[in-house]
Amino acid sequence: MNTQKKFVIKGGRVLNGEVEISGAKNAVVAILPAAILADEPCIIENVPDISDVDISIRILRELGAKVTYLGPHTYEIDARGVNSSCVPYESARKMRASYYFMGALLGRFKHCRVSMPGGCPLGDRPIDQHLKAFKKLGADTKVDRGMVDITTANGLHGAQIFFDCVTVGATMNAILAAVKADGLTIIENAAKEPHIVDLASFLNSMGAEIMGAGTDTIKIRGVKYLRGTSYAVIPDQIEAGTYMVAAAATGGNVLIKNVIPKHLESIISVMEKIGVKIEQFDDSVRVSVDGPLVKTSVKTRPHPGFPTDMQPQISALLCLAEGTSMIKEGVSEQRFQYVDELRRMGADIQVDGKVAVIEGTGKLTGAPVKACDLRAGAALMIAGLAASGVTTIEDIFHIERGYSDMAGKLRALGACIEKVTVVQKETGTQQDAV
Ligand code: EPZ
Repeated sequence: MNTQKKFVIKGGRVLNGEVEISGAKNAVVAILPAAILADEPCIIENVPDISDVDISIRILRELGAKVTYLGPHTYEIDARGVNSSCVPYESARKMRASYYFMGALLGRFKHCRVSMPGGCPLGDRPIDQHLKAFKKLGADTKVDRGMVDITTANGLHGAQIFFDCVTVGATMNAILAAVKADGLTIIENAAKEPHIVDLASFLNSMGAEIMGAGTDTIKIRGVKYLRGTSYAVIPDQIEAGTYMVAAAATGGNVLIKNVIPKHLESIISVMEKIGVKIEQFDDSVRVSVDGPLVKTSVKTRPHPGFPTDMQPQISALLCLAEGTSMIKEGVSEQRFQYVDELRRMGADIQVDGKVAVIEGTGKLTGAPVKACDLRAGAALMIAGLAASGVTTIEDIFHIERGYSDMAGKLRALGACIEKVTVVQKETGTQQDAV
């Protein structure tokens, strides 16, 4: 007997009301490992309830850190007891961000042994730039049976690091490894995402000396000691964008609360081109639709461009627009696996390499579909909300990696959505709502 959880959505409901955005997944999965570098306990607030956080906390505990739940979205991490620099395959393979333990453990212990990461299947996702940064800082790296062995004979020293491509992960890892290295490190062609700035702000609140995060040149002067801190993770730019698109797809009127509007500029710009009305306030945006959705062309780019992590969601919205839209994927190697699932719901999309052409049909119909990665799952949720009829989404563990209580937040906005557990028995299948 095995069980599987699914979302069951009865589409066609208009979303209205308010939704609170949680802490940023792609910031917190770097900040939690970064606590290993602290010489005193750290308190981290606004931590989202997502499975990538559960995995990160499990790894921290396996390494010997003391992680204490202090209340909703708040944890204390005391890494003084960390007594291992090895992250095994079983833990690391469940998410991509496990590679941040490389930079953090290397930065503290000057050696580590971490499994190659897992994460969303988005085509080729090498870590050559991460390894390049570690080598520039004085480390030797070796990949052996799926594990990355990183050692330093004489510790880590400041370096000039130029990334051959803009990479969020390698930028984060270079910062983690350099904050306690001897001397000045200069990272050029750095990624500029809000979560890069958040990691730097967290480390600087502990006494690190990181300048220029958010620009393409980051300077880090190594320090010997990092004190404890109390730090709140920034709101999740992609979760906010996802709910903005969901509101627009159902023709609703939703106030998206606890956001940083500046982080949403490129998302707002694209959605306004599609005909969505967006009002900006200090820490919230209101999304509404008072006319037909219209076609547009979008290319995903590193920040401040339109985020690749919003590409599947905006594609779902453009299926509902009038006319022919075009999506160009400018960051990931392969990020259109979800198109087949949208086609099951009546979408008319042609994909050629990194370009998708969407013939807006103005409507979608419910169908049984499967999430193939985190943001693909979010796109299917959006499509199911807008579709006529019932949509069931399988493999929702992808969605729960990066969205806290998505069904609950959508239900509070008026959606008709249930999470059900399907028990596959030898004699057939039984479905119970949970
Ligand atoms: C981070 O992945 C995010 N994940 C991804 O979000 C996001 O899509 C991506 O950045 C781009 O913004 C986390 O932060 C945990 P990259 P990452 O290094 O670090 C190439 C989500 O939905 N590259 O910026 O893996 C790589 O192949 C997830 O929340 C190299 O060639 O992204 C890719 O094409 C999905 N060599 C491009 O750069 C390297 O050493 C961008 O990768 C590293 C990357």
